Amino acid sequence: MKVTYDYIIVGSGIAGLYTALLARQQGSVLVLTKGSIDECNTKHAQGGIAAAIGAHDSPELHFRDTIAAGAGLCDEEAVRILVEEAPDRIADLIRFGVPFDTLDGQIALTKEAAHSVPRILHAGGDATGEHIETTLSRMARQARVEILEHCLAIEIMVEGNRVQGVKALDTRMGSVEEFSCRNLILATGGAGRLFKYTTNPDIATADGVALAYRAGAEITDIEFFQFHPTAVRLPGVPPFLISEAVRGEGGILRNVEGYRFMPDYAPEGDLAPRDVVARSVHAEMAKTGSDRVFLDVTHLPPPIVTTRFPHIYRFCLDHGLDITKGLIPVAPAAHYMMGGVRTNAWGETNIAGLFAAGETACTGVHGANRLASNSLLEVIVFAKRILEQTRKGAQANPAPGTSSRYEHWPLPRRKAIAEPPPASLSALQSLLWQKVGIVRHGDSLEEAATILAGWQREFVPSLDRPSHELANLILTGRLMAEAALLREESRGAHYRADFPQPSPAWQSHIVFSRGSE
Ligand code: FAD
Ligand code: SIN
Repeated sequence: MKVTYDYIIVGSGIAGLYTALLARQQGSVLVLTKGSIDECNTKHAQGGIAAAIGAHDSPELHFRDTIAAGAGLCDEEAVRILVEEAPDRIADLIRFGVPFDTLDGQIALTKEAAHSVPRILHAGGDATGEHIETTLSRMARQARVEILEHCLAIEIMVEGNRVQGVKALDTRMGSVEEFSCRNLILATGGAGRLFKYTTNPDIATADGVALAYRAGAEITDIEFFQFHPTAVRLPGVPPFLISEAVRGEGGILRNVEGYRFMPDYAPEGDLAPRDVVARSVHAEMAKTGSDRVFLDVTHLPPPIVTTRFPHIYRFCLDHGLDITKGLIPVAPAAHYMMGGVRTNAWGETNIAGLFAAGETACTGVHGANRLASNSLLEVIVFAKRILEQTRKGAQANPAPGTSSRYEHWPLPRRKAIAEPPPASLSALQSLLWQKVGIVRHGDSLEEAATILAGWQREFVPSLDRPSHELANLILTGRLMAEAALLREESRGAHYRADFPQPSPAWQSHIVFSRGSE
């Protein structure tokens, strides 16, 4: 007889595993994940997790910093929930066994860009994500959560606007199976693989956004993608992240001539908001005709560098660079998807029984630019609320909040172009990096949208993981290019060279949903 699970969760990063551990207390749970359990963005998180637990901090201060970073597009109700529920959720992680670093018996807190006080908890110095992922996966195994690895979700099954289950491809056997459930939680993570240079691992292919869109869910704020200013830039070396906490502890950006340039761009200097630093690095690279700038920590006492950032130190050393003695070559890289599957404050989408948690969700807390280390926090705060909501059985009104600032837009029809380039992962990543990247322009966005629309029409995935992922990236890339083209202004992480200022007329969110094509 076919089993109907109370919860199916797609993904095994912090969002998937934390949700699974809570759901286990409320019913039957199945976790599907497309690789092995620990393949996820979460494992790579370095800087830490933000929460107002310090003596000189308060949820109100955390609220203000988050709103300021979001550049006028944060959902204030969601941000209130985020900052007020943060300390309790951190206590949950501590109870689960996440070993946050301490100093003199107190949890150690560091500072990152655009936070007005030190409020970032970290573990293993710069290995916060690895500790969270290891702790949660150990707990999930102990709790006997049923987890199917190498199982790629390929379609959400919906009838009459209610979720029925999910179709998944066993990527080892090449077979497709249907799984039924009452509640389906998408926890599929981000989309960094849209771009040529990214801090994200291979799994970050926007699957949740694409699956949800095809099922009829609303996608919002998809034009806002955060570029991290400092990823290692060395030939043949992946763009490994150099945490913002390195600048928080005193690291300095210099151009290829050794000049400290950030004070020329922003009063906060090296700790200006992430979007400002990424664009300044981009501009400085163009000005000096170089593909990199440098991060300098040689003035810091070596033991601080090696003990506070052991992973970064080791990674660089393995690539021939002792960062206590020499400068780190860095450049911006695609890092975090602010937009995603639109949810309300309970993680509900506009489809009954379909929830989204983590980076694939857009709860509204990040607005146009995420405050550093708010994403791990967002996961645990809103995942908990999904479980509260499903426990109450409340599903009467699954539609996300109906603020008038959310506006539905149709996707324009785009004409085929003569001799389009063939669709491939590398062609897509180069296209998005060049035309939908850190600095955008109407002409190049239009070109990208047209090529992506052509690929969307022509590319049919076969029964393997890479081609499903490519189809998902093409669809999400198209939504991103179209939204970026519509938004004729610059705001947060979205910068248009042809509209360099924010416009009050654009203080609204773009929403796409299927049927708008
Ligand atoms: P993920 O951890 O990416 O998990 C997604 C899961 O879904 C994976 O298991 C994946 O295999 C699975 N999956 C995807 N598609 C499918 C499918 N179709 N079928 C089945 N399974 C699927 N944030 C902070 O707050 N602080 C930090 O210090 C920080 N540092 C970061 C450093 C790096 C290098 C990176 C890349 C990100 C960092 N972030 C940080 C962001 C943060 O790590 C992520 O936003 C967060 O971990 C996302 O968690 P998640 O569970 O939503 O997604
Ligand atoms: C970092 O450590 O710089 C990344 C923090 C984040 O993305 O929140």
